[in-house]
Amino acid sequence: MSEVYDLVVIGGGPGGYVCAIRAAQLGMKVACVEKRGALGGTCLNVGCIPSKALLHATHMYEHASHHMGDLGVAVSGVRLDLPKMMSHKDKVVSDNTGGIEFLFKKNKIAYIKGAGKITAPGTVQVSGAQVQTVQAKNIVIATGSDVMPLPGVAIDEKRIVSSTGGLSLSSVPGKMVVIGAGVIGLELGSVWRRLGAEVTVVEYLDFILPPMDGEIRKQAQRILEKQGMNFRLGYKVTGASTGKKGVSLKLEPSKGGAGETLDADVVLVAIGRRPYTEGLGLESIGVVPDSRGFIAVDHDYQTKVQGVFAIGDVIGGQMLAHKAEEEGVAVAELLAGQSGHVNYGAIPSVVYTDPEIAMVGKTEEQLKADGVAYKVGKFPFTANGRARANNTTDGLVKVLADAKTDRVLGCHIVGAMAGDLIQEVVVGMEFGASAEDIARSSHAHPQLGEAIKEAMLAVDKRPLHI
Ligand code: FAD
Ligand code: NAI
Repeated sequence: MSEVYDLVVIGGGPGGYVCAIRAAQLGMKVACVEKRGALGGTCLNVGCIPSKALLHATHMYEHASHHMGDLGVAVSGVRLDLPKMMSHKDKVVSDNTGGIEFLFKKNKIAYIKGAGKITAPGTVQVSGAQVQTVQAKNIVIATGSDVMPLPGVAIDEKRIVSSTGGLSLSSVPGKMVVIGAGVIGLELGSVWRRLGAEVTVVEYLDFILPPMDGEIRKQAQRILEKQGMNFRLGYKVTGASTGKKGVSLKLEPSKGGAGETLDADVVLVAIGRRPYTEGLGLESIGVVPDSRGFIAVDHDYQTKVQGVFAIGDVIGGQMLAHKAEEEGVAVAELLAGQSGHVNYGAIPSVVYTDPEIAMVGKTEEQLKADGVAYKVGKFPFTANGRARANNTTDGLVKVLADAKTDRVLGCHIVGAMAGDLIQEVVVGMEFGASAEDIARSSHAHPQLGEAIKEAMLAVDKRPLHI
């Protein structure tokens, strides 16, 4: 039997490691149990960070190969060095995960390597190099999520890959089929298309990126098609057979109809992620996951067992690293007697394609469904001076504001740097800003952000530059 911690966090991803750091800052004696062999969870090891390293590198490759000439920079002899690109990505991952270990040391957090199992409230058994038992006043489960499998399409991480395999292919496939036009499908589909693969995305629904605003996702689809990505919308994959030459996929229209086959060198399965609770011992303490496997928690992130909390992907909602982090901070502050809280209405979501696609708040479809009276303001990047200077005129900003109060209810952007641009609207929404508040704030010229100011002005039908 070992020492008693104030808090043991199971899972060292963005939810878990941030919770551990915040709790340590607040004076708690904290341990974090992680079985992966590295801190940072899905996000740092096989998610956000390696995908962005490849998205950036492949963007540079595509730019140098095809677009720099437009700016009068003649480039020749551009050549892909895939092993070097992959080793850059791997180094970024190891530097980042090592950085979390440093933060743990700085905050005096015990990093316990191994798989954690809750054997009783307040007791975690860790199976690592040896089996040890850790006692805690409180336990936070932050075990994250895993790839959703597709029946009939067995992932082997060679020919049929999940996002994890899709981040580490050893050569550029001639033909790649992506199943699922969600965030992973479009981001990793973009990576391999930029490197020369012929990419076809098969999507069950009649549109891409289901949670996004309808107008924005249509624009995004048009732009991605212009770049050479092919879409088969309204189709489902019913099976796959793998041979020496590649994979043959069986497709059917989602609404029924004649089947067909589609051949690929590599298939990426990206139809969502599911909560991960394997081996946690939930049943032995009486926590029963819901029908989709998520752990139910109350307003304070506590499960139905006192002293056992859960955060991040494993409790559902938006499966985003920053959402998990906010929950990690909130639960640590609640445990310290403070009033930790997450404003789910102002969590941004960004798809890192080129151009980026970003949103915060409600979509037009949601406002209609909720019966909310709203005003719309839009501004295209073609009318923004900086976008013209940068040759990045694709896309627009769309703002939705309350018809009576003018309060900003949502903002949707497809355009260069959309992920950075959305942040001013997030801050505005946190402070209850009206469209006029943001429209009257001075925006430096020439900046892409002026398109946000103009879209806010357009809510009141008075944009200046269109
Ligand atoms: P995780 O990051 O999944 O961490 C959970 C950790 O718990 C894991 O390391 C696991 O090994 C460990 N664990 C599980 N069970 C046990 C156990 N019993 N004992 C010990 N340890 C255990 N989100 C964004 O916001 N932006 C992005 O750009 C982005 N890109 C992504 C790209 C890809 C390819 C993928 C797959 C995901 C991406 N995400 C992105 C989503 C993001 O990675 C997740 O939302 C985030 O990692 C969730 O954090 P978490 O702490 O809840 O869980
Ligand atoms: P997703 O939920 O974003 O998209 C899955 C897509 O697959 C949907 O469009 C869905 O309609 C479709 N689909 C489902 N079943 C299908 C089937 N049988 N055939 C064809 N299409 C099917 O899931 P994805 O892309 O796997 O990402 C998982 C999670 O990871 C997301 O929740 C996302 O939030 C997170 N993530 C976030 C990123 C970011 O913030 N930039 C990047 C990558 C992932």
